[in-house]
Amino acid sequence: MKSKKNKKNAVNKDVKKDVKKDVKVAVVKKEDMFEARLHKHYDELKWLYCELYQQQPNPLNYFDDLIKNLKDFYDQREAYLKELDIAREKNTNWYKGNDFIGMMMYVNNFSGTLKGFEKRIPYLQESNVNYIHLMPLLTSPKDEGDGGYAVADFRNVQEELGTMEDLRKLAKKCHRNKISICLDFVMNHTSNQHEWAKKARAGEQEYQDRYFFFDNYDMPRLFEEKCPQVFPTTAPGNFTYLEDIHKFVMTTFYPYQWDLDYRNPIVFNEMVYNMLYLANQGVDIIRLDAVPYIWKQLGTNCRNLPQVHTLVRMMRMITEIVCPSVLLLGEVVMAPEKVVPYFGTIEKPECHMLYNVTTMATTWHTVATRDVSLLKHQLDILASLPKQYIFQNYLRCHDDIGWGLDYGFLRYQGIEEVAHKKYLNDFFTGKYPNSFSCGELYNDDESLGDARLCGTTASLCGIEYYDKQKDKDGIQSAIDLDLMLHGFLLSLSGIPVIYSGDEIAQYNDWEYKNDKYKQADSRYIHRGAFNWRKAGRRKIDNAIQAKVYQGISKMEKIRLQYDVFSTDANIYTLNTWNKSTVALVRETENEKFIGIYNFSEYEEMAWIDEQDGLYKELLTKQKDFKASGLKLPGHGILWLWRSKKA
Ligand code: GLC
Repeated sequence: MKSKKNKKNAVNKDVKKDVKKDVKVAVVKKEDMFEARLHKHYDELKWLYCELYQQQPNPLNYFDDLIKNLKDFYDQREAYLKELDIAREKNTNWYKGNDFIGMMMYVNNFSGTLKGFEKRIPYLQESNVNYIHLMPLLTSPKDEGDGGYAVADFRNVQEELGTMEDLRKLAKKCHRNKISICLDFVMNHTSNQHEWAKKARAGEQEYQDRYFFFDNYDMPRLFEEKCPQVFPTTAPGNFTYLEDIHKFVMTTFYPYQWDLDYRNPIVFNEMVYNMLYLANQGVDIIRLDAVPYIWKQLGTNCRNLPQVHTLVRMMRMITEIVCPSVLLLGEVVMAPEKVVPYFGTIEKPECHMLYNVTTMATTWHTVATRDVSLLKHQLDILASLPKQYIFQNYLRCHDDIGWGLDYGFLRYQGIEEVAHKKYLNDFFTGKYPNSFSCGELYNDDESLGDARLCGTTASLCGIEYYDKQKDKDGIQSAIDLDLMLHGFLLSLSGIPVIYSGDEIAQYNDWEYKNDKYKQADSRYIHRGAFNWRKAGRRKIDNAIQAKVYQGISKMEKIRLQYDVFSTDANIYTLNTWNKSTVALVRETENEKFIGIYNFSEYEEMAWIDEQDGLYKELLTKQKDFKASGLKLPGHGILWLWRSKKA
């Protein structure tokens, strides 16, 4: 362990020095800075652009327009953001340390408004959070908004949350407090209330050309042959018939979310300008929502097509030219082999970060089966990936948990996909005998047996169930599970992100069923308003909220203290010779860490045998710990650590 504070101060000083030195240069040679960045990427950008849009009569006209606008967005960027650009260009690892802990929240749920959010910054700091994902906050219809993912205006904030000016101020305040902000960039579609959609509906060809419009069902029928459905029960099909104008429009998600046609260079250019506009408000991380879907081609499944990667690569270069401090986070909820290509290559990177969706789903599978073999297998695969690949880890987010597991692997254990999904869903909705979980199904597609799952972490872990039963032992066991899962999350390779409310063990919000705008979408069960009254109980000894909050906080603080948790650690698993315990090792030049997790509610052994010295158990501070033949209580966790220095 290093004296983290001193190390950090030293780093900060260096960065400040560098920034000061370079700001001078930057002020004098601002023009050059843009030109230099543009120069670095110009040829590749132009090549990719012209290749993609070669069918257009004059692709270079659009390209020139793009470049001209990039310069304008660069010029409009505030001075403090330009400083940040320079600092982060020098320190491209700025987000890869052990000091990045994220939280995601809807502003209305957390603080009512953007102005109100500023007052909640101390709570975030107390909660060790320095990275926040503010869920969609741009103008979006109340009734048909998909939680803000149907954007009607990319340049305005939802009225009830405040204004763009409030967002800019909040971003500045967050930066002063060393908190980074992530915002969604919903680029696959717009709301049908977006200006373009309205004009298209009014018959303007120019705007119809920005979407996929069809006069009859011939083409949609052909698309449907190969295109799976995203929301098979809540929004079946990939097209919507617009009765008023007798046309079909492509709507991969909800009928009111019209897919944009990126074959039209105007769409790409305009959406890039929208993205840069957001970046210029002070956003640090841009989440590319539903990115695998942005290119459609007849005869394909319209997901992960090569052109998607061209578009993302161009967006990466564009951010590096205009706002290099900004990171791209790809939302790729796909099988692992489809996810990883979104990192691009070392020479031609695409996204900076991606979600670790497979580990998330596999973790819950492990909770239900108490069998770690698939999880260990997953961790071994992850460990073999290059360290430059930064994943965001999470136990759950605002969306459902889909059972995208490695069924090839499970089949060897005699587990069959449909029956297993049914077991998982029965388990997590409390139908299975002795289940403690109270989740809800989402998009229950009976024809495929493919329902997904919703619920807060605390409710899925059983805290809600046992609390209602007033079963004290049950509550404790469920809290232990909740903490064990958070401990596991915090020791994975990458950046941990907690859904606001999970840190105080917030339960499902059953009230969504009484809200006419929400009741059809069970994802709202885990998007309830943050309960500040219950949060107050985080300081009351023995309260459920305190046990969970303090337990998580303690582990986060340990994570902050030890370099072995940074993303450059080597990661591998150990064999525990026990079905229910998994052991994850992190190793740097100077430190070694072994995290051991018991997914069963019963006492279990971890038959590891590390003969390389004595360890310290970081959670109990017990010293001289032998990493050999370890007994763990039900849902137990051990964090063993040793210095490798003599
Ligand atoms: C993403 C969002 C999800 C939304 C969908 C459509 O997957 O996470 O909440 O419904 O995109 O925009």
